Formats: sequence, C-alpha cells, structure tokens
Amino acid sequence: MCGIIGYIGKRQAYPILIKGLQRLEYRGYDSAGIALLDNDLLNVYKAKGKVSDLVRFAEQQDVNGTIGIAHTRWATHGEPNQINAHPHCSQSEELAIIHNGIIENYAVLKESLIKHGYTFQSQTDTEVLVQLIDYVKKSNNVDLTKAVQLALNQVVGAYAIAVIEKGNPDVIVAARKGSPLVVGIGDGEFFLASDATPIVEYTNKVVYIGDEEIVTLKRGEDIKIKTIADVVKTPEIQRLELTLSQLEKGGYPHFMLKEIFEQPKTLSDSMRGRLNLEEKEIKLSGFIDNKEKFLNAKRIIITACGTSWHAGLIGKYAIEEFCRIPVEVEYSSEFRYRKPVIHGDDLVIAISQSGETADTLAAVELAKSHGAFIFGICNVVGSSIPRNTNSGCYTHAGPEIGVASTKAFTAQVTVLTMLALLIGKEKGTLSVERYKEIVSELGNIPQKMRSLLDQNDMIAQFAKTFTYAQNFIYLGRGYNYPVALEGALKLKEISYIHAEGYPAAEMKHGPIALISQEMPVVVIAPSAGMYEKVVSNIQEIKARKGRIISIVTEGDTVVTNLSDYYISIPDTEECLVPLLAAIPLQLMAYHIAVVKGCNVDQPRNLAKSVTVE
Ligand code: G6P
Repeated sequence: MCGIIGYIGKRQAYPILIKGLQRLEYRGYDSAGIALLDNDLLNVYKAKGKVSDLVRFAEQQDVNGTIGIAHTRWATHGEPNQINAHPHCSQSEELAIIHNGIIENYAVLKESLIKHGYTFQSQTDTEVLVQLIDYVKKSNNVDLTKAVQLALNQVVGAYAIAVIEKGNPDVIVAARKGSPLVVGIGDGEFFLASDATPIVEYTNKVVYIGDEEIVTLKRGEDIKIKTIADVVKTPEIQRLELTLSQLEKGGYPHFMLKEIFEQPKTLSDSMRGRLNLEEKEIKLSGFIDNKEKFLNAKRIIITACGTSWHAGLIGKYAIEEFCRIPVEVEYSSEFRYRKPVIHGDDLVIAISQSGETADTLAAVELAKSHGAFIFGICNVVGSSIPRNTNSGCYTHAGPEIGVASTKAFTAQVTVLTMLALLIGKEKGTLSVERYKEIVSELGNIPQKMRSLLDQNDMIAQFAKTFTYAQNFIYLGRGYNYPVALEGALKLKEISYIHAEGYPAAEMKHGPIALISQEMPVVVIAPSAGMYEKVVSNIQEIKARKGRIISIVTEGDTVVTNLSDYYISIPDTEECLVPLLAAIPLQLMAYHIAVVKGCNVDQPRNLAKSVTVE
C-alpha cells in the first residue's frame, strides 16, 4: 500500500503534495514525509502519524520549491516511526526516494552495499534501493534515469518509486512494477501519484505507467517512457473520468456514511446501460464478446480478498443456482501459492474494488499462465487487474474512500448477479420467465435501498446499546451467510469489536458455547429462503439468553417477537436479499464505531489498497 505523489512545474509543490497526500491517506496513514528541491537545497521532512502531523512539523520549515515528492506510509519493513518514514535519502544526501511496494532481495543488496561502504539509518527496503541507485549512478557515471534503470534491473519485488536529485531541480524519475503509478499532464507541469485522486483537480489528461516502465518528467519537455529493458514506449494519454465532488464528503461526517448513503445511486450506476427494465433484459458487453467462454466453462473459480471475497461467495450461490456451473471461491493469497489445479477451460473471475490488490493480481497471472480465461470485476477504472484480464465489467460505484468497503461491495454483488442471470438464461438453466422476474426486481432494489436508509436514526439509537460488547456473532444461511461474514468484518474493521460470521446452523457446532446474556447475535432472517430453519436457530440462541438483533422482512411477526432489536427490510427475491441486508449491517457497524470514538474512515492498521503480499 502506501501513497506516493510527486509534482514538477511552475507552482509551489508543497501545497499540491500535501493536498495529494490527504487524498491518498486511505492507502496508509502511519507516517508521512515530503522532499522538496529549493535551488541547491534538498529539504526532507517526515513525521510519525498522519499527514496532519507532517503538516504541523513542515509548516515551521522551508517549504519552497517547484519540484517535490511525498509519501504516506503503511509499514511493511520496520515499525512506523520517523526514521522509517519516506522519503529516504542516499548516504550522499543527493538522492531522495519514495516507494510503494516491497523489494524482496533487499537483504542481499544491502549486504553488498555495506561492502562498498554504505551505512544505513532505517530498517527499510526502500533505503537500500536509494543507496543502490546512488551507487550505480556514481560507479557508472550516468544520469538519474539511467541509474534508476540499471538499479531496477538488480531488484526483485514490487515497486512504484519516484526519485529526485539535489542540484537537478528539473527532473523527477519514476518507475513501477506491480504497484500503481499514474502521471497527470498539465500545462508545463507534471503530477504523479498512486492513483488519479490527487491529480483530478489540476488536469484530466493522464498516462497510466505500465509494469517495468520508467518515466522521466523533465521541465520544458514531453513525458518520456522506457522500459527497464531499455525499450522506448509511446505514452498513451487518456482522459480521466473522475470529478472532484466524488472525492469530497458532501456534508456527511465521514466518507463511510456518505458511501453507505450513495448505494441507491451506485447500484443504478452499476446497472445503467446494462439492465433494460422495459424489455427485462441484461446486456453486459464483457459477456457478449466472450459468450462461448462463459457457456462452455466447466468450472468457475472466483478469486478475491476481504470484502470482495464475500461478494464472490454471494456470486457462487447465484451462479450455481442459475447456471448450474460449479464455482470455487478462493482467497487470492492462498490460491496463488497452493499449486491449485487450473484447466484451460476454467473461467476465472477476479474481484477487486481497487484493482490493485497484490494477491489478486498474482492470482490472475497464475490463472492466465495455465490458459484460463480471466474476467475482472473491478471498481477503479484503468487499474492493474482490469488491464491484465481478458475481459471484464467495471462496477462503476465511483471512488470509495472509506477504508471499510460498502458501496463497492453492493456494486460487486449487483454485477455478479447480472452475470449469473445472463449466463443462466443463455445456457437455458434459468427459465426466461424467472429471469425476467428477477431482472425486473433487480431494477427495484435502488428504491428499496432508499427506504431502508430512512432507518438510519433508529439504527444509530440502538447501536449505542452495544458499545459495551467485546464480541458479536453474525448468523445467516444461504445467500445471507456471506452477508453475515461481511457484517462481522465491517464491525471488526472499524469498531475493533471482535465479531464472527457463521452459517446459522453451524453455530451449534461450537460458537453456541459463547452465547450468554452478554452476547449480541445478529441474525439475518428474511422471509425468503430457509426462514423456518433460521427461526429454529434463533430459538436456540434465545434459550441461552443471547441478545438477538435481527434483520427481517417487513411485516414479520415471529422473529421480531424473539428479537431484542430488529430492522425490517423490504421483501425481495432471495438472491437479492444481500443487497438490502448489507445496508443495516453497515450502518450498525458505523454507528457503534462512531459512539466508541473510533476513526471510521481510517481504522488502525488497515489500508484500503493492499499492494503488498
Ligand atoms: C483491504 C481493504 C478491504 C478490501 C480488501 C480487498 O483489506 O481494507 O476493504 O476488501 O483490501 O481489496 P480489493 O481492492 O481487492 O477489493
């Protein structure tokens, strides 16, 4: 993870870099730093903590300069402190670097640099890289771009880096492999960043840097790109489809709450141009172009991490029900290393909000190398995973800034549902009549979500009751088992309350031992799908004095009578319940975290985009 940003141009770099860091802070927020070139001076300021801590310190210093680089960190090598924060400088204090990623062979490189007289101040792999560039530069007597190129040829690992050089205030050299990097092209100025969010207010012309490419940004010249193997590349300038208002809180106290409330709209955006309600039809171009791959797939493997993995599980239920194709849902981090059996006629669906998750990207590469067809379901347009898949479908949820995923999750479920319905209809495993019924109901979901959000104040009230809890259990069956997992994850992530999601019937094989009058148990018990069975599970909890918070269908009388608190959701098709049931669980986690005084948008130890293993 980590966020990197750079600027070179006519304006003062400092305010642009700080504002950019604030936009990138979702990527990591345990320390931050900035390096500015002011004529012959190279000024580097770093601080443990948030970007605001860096600002407090830097404001007292010389922050002049029209070129600079800055970094917000999520620690991998070395604890989060001021010394390990980026930028790191070479021993000569001539070069400063920022880095997102991991240099895997840093120990070997470090040993050899020590033999050449280099000493190290930090525990980071990044300091090794900047010293290596310094060494290569001096021993080969080459310019900065060439030195970066030669050094990167010795590096194993992942990186997005930017380097500046004292006495050379006209150039930033940057490069990437595995970690994202985008350059914004302004009028006589360049911006570079981990994603386009810090760039959007200055320019909408961007170039996404490819793997193993080095970019030289020089004052008065055009952007230059070549590979680390020395092949010159023509930059492909793209237009950015992102607006500034999408990156602001718009009156909400937190991005997470804003994103929860955006869901009726993001769902409509996900379905726009794809769901035709008049004809009750779905059109997905990623499907149409590769129809045979979907219809002939003997097996579908879904690979993802975190919340995206939970969406994948819901996808499995839908695909198996409607398409009768066996589906395996794999954690990307396990899949990539456990020597999985992958056939050429497997269809692999990679799901990722960011499109940058290192494990999912590696899982995609692995599946590709076995000849499987890869379909990506991603949110961030132009990110690495969609660029490495054979086909795909964007979720179009818009930028998600709160670290805990909400609107991206429901958009992923929407896309997976549309895909399952379409494959099922085309294969003939789902009758046209049922297909049209569900398509039609899918179109009603945004409106049903809207009515559900009206219960926000009520949820905020009862959430206060549960801030005492140390543990929570979430239960669901069928399509709602993954929703239980996701509800528990939301609570864990932002309130630091331990929570477990379980298939409701599995509770009696262990977790029931935990039930006491202290234990809140959240049960997703809609009328659609195994209702009576879930009622029995609730009775089992009640008999042991557990406190029941239930999600029920409007009009329910049985479960509501058994519950301490309940939230009603509108009636819908069984496969669509997750889209509604997820909302109260998101709101409940949010309000509990707020009452507990937690940093909802930037929970401790987490980062939004995990670009390291
Ligand atoms: C991180 C985030 C999670 C996210 C997961 C997968 O852990 O904090 O919210 O679900 O990465 O991210 P992706 O971008 O691949 O969906």
